[in-house]
Amino acid sequence: MIQTEDMEFAPRIITPENTDEDGDIEVNLRPQTLHEYIGQDKVKENLAIYIEAAKRRGEPLDHVLLYGPPGLGKTTLSAIIAHELGVNLRVTTGPAIEKPGDLVSLLTSLSDNDVLFIDEIHRLSHAVEEILYPAMEDRVIDIIIGKGPSARSIRMDLKPFTLIGATTRAGQLSAPLRDRFGVIQRLELYTKDQLTDIIRRSAMILGIPCETDGAAEIAGRSRGTPRIANRLLKRVRDFADVMGNGQITQQIVSIALGRLDIDELGLDSLDRRMLEMIIKGYGGGPVGLETLASAINEESVTLEDVCEPFLMQLGFLGRTPRGRVATKLAYEHLGYTRPDDGVRGQLSFG
Ligand code: ADE
Repeated sequence: MIQTEDMEFAPRIITPENTDEDGDIEVNLRPQTLHEYIGQDKVKENLAIYIEAAKRRGEPLDHVLLYGPPGLGKTTLSAIIAHELGVNLRVTTGPAIEKPGDLVSLLTSLSDNDVLFIDEIHRLSHAVEEILYPAMEDRVIDIIIGKGPSARSIRMDLKPFTLIGATTRAGQLSAPLRDRFGVIQRLELYTKDQLTDIIRRSAMILGIPCETDGAAEIAGRSRGTPRIANRLLKRVRDFADVMGNGQITQQIVSIALGRLDIDELGLDSLDRRMLEMIIKGYGGGPVGLETLASAINEESVTLEDVCEPFLMQLGFLGRTPRGRVATKLAYEHLGYTRPDDGVRGQLSFG
């Protein structure tokens, strides 16, 4: 949940973060194999080779770092990697590993070539990260026993394992940690066609009758993110059941998503508030991220991780060294005229 604490605004249905409600739906819908996984073709092709090579050699897969905006399938992909390798998967997150001892018990509980997945790996504490360095590099951990002058360090061997780290912010990883990953892959926002395929697959699994036009309409409003696409599918199904005959059509999708305040391009009220503040509050920008975030009472990480990748992909937002700017396309989409466009218009007329 990434909403501001005062909850002045309703929770966003298109938050790409995992929410409790997603639990069942995501597990059911998660592809199990690389073959079933739609999109991220380059990442899949590369991983398929690394996995096959590791299996042939009987070695663990090299440590993998997956980065990119939330909701693109980093956890799903790590489960697929473990499945394709035929090993167990242990899942945890950076903030959940509070003490070095927590990581030591995780690492020592792994079997040969198992995968340990650490989500939000950029949030590991420094003390925990220090345990990871020798573990990743030499498969050993140094445990300090005792305190003060009599403290001594014991080196313990670990079984071969693969660490998969996931982060929305690769830039926040320390260089020593980043350097210990042999495979670094960036996940991209999905295209509308890929999301249409994902929605049709999900609808089939869930037994929801869904027209291709309906799936495409949801896809076009899912801001490049499968997690959002699947969540919208579930919401639209409610409208289709109550207001229609259960079939997901383009018309039902338009009605449902209109009610949810998600526009034809997938912008929600937060995206629009952000762009409107740049346009109306700061003359189109540039405006610094922190200034903008406090002006609309939102956390800057939410704007940076969630709104910006999507608005930049649409060509609505530019990032300059002096701050964020709204583009001509953003003005047009929100129904505003850029002041200099007006001047240019007058000049060309005159
Ligand atoms: N469900 C969520 N993400 C998916 C993907 N990339 N491929 C297939 N189904 C999915």
